[in-house]
Amino acid sequence: MEYKKTDIHFIQCSPEELDESDRKLVELARQATYTAYAPYSHFCVGAALLLDNGCHVCGSNQENAAFGAGTCAERTALFYAHAQHPDAAVKAIAIAARGTDGEFTQQPIAPCGVCRQALLEAQKRGQSPIRLLLAGRTTIVMMSGVECVLPFAFEEIV
Ligand code: THU
Repeated sequence: MEYKKTDIHFIQCSPEELDESDRKLVELARQATYTAYAPYSHFCVGAALLLDNGCHVCGSNQENAAFGAGTCAERTALFYAHAQHPDAAVKAIAIAARGTDGEFTQQPIAPCGVCRQALLEAQKRGQSPIRLLLAGRTTIVMMSGVECVLPFAFEEIV
């Protein structure tokens, strides 16, 4: 029997410390929260992707009275990106949210488990890391790849 552990690496910074490209992606994710359809949770999430062809693709959560039919912002953006640009790899995703008070969350929110799995598959498909920018009002968490949020993914454990 062997005890093992794994580390998760991330960078925490303020929005002002981001370079221009990342700042733009965070701004697009924030704007995308205003396209959310969230009459049930009143929690509006926005996601913005940067593709390797230079295009930006945004998405937001789209809820439904049949709750399971709704989808998260991240998957809205990912699936739309792959439908519109099937040959482009995703380079980065920014995620932002506004809570029930209508304000952007102070702290970053992280993608749900299903979205992590979808992001991992997009990363494999694109054969290059997808950087994550989780944007709170005052704090940004940056990660260099999807494995940082999904250490035990649905695949053989190495
Ligand atoms: N939601 C997202 O859009 N992304 C996530 O990663 C987690 C949750 C949405 C789903 C639902 O519309 C609302 O946030 C509240 O859970």
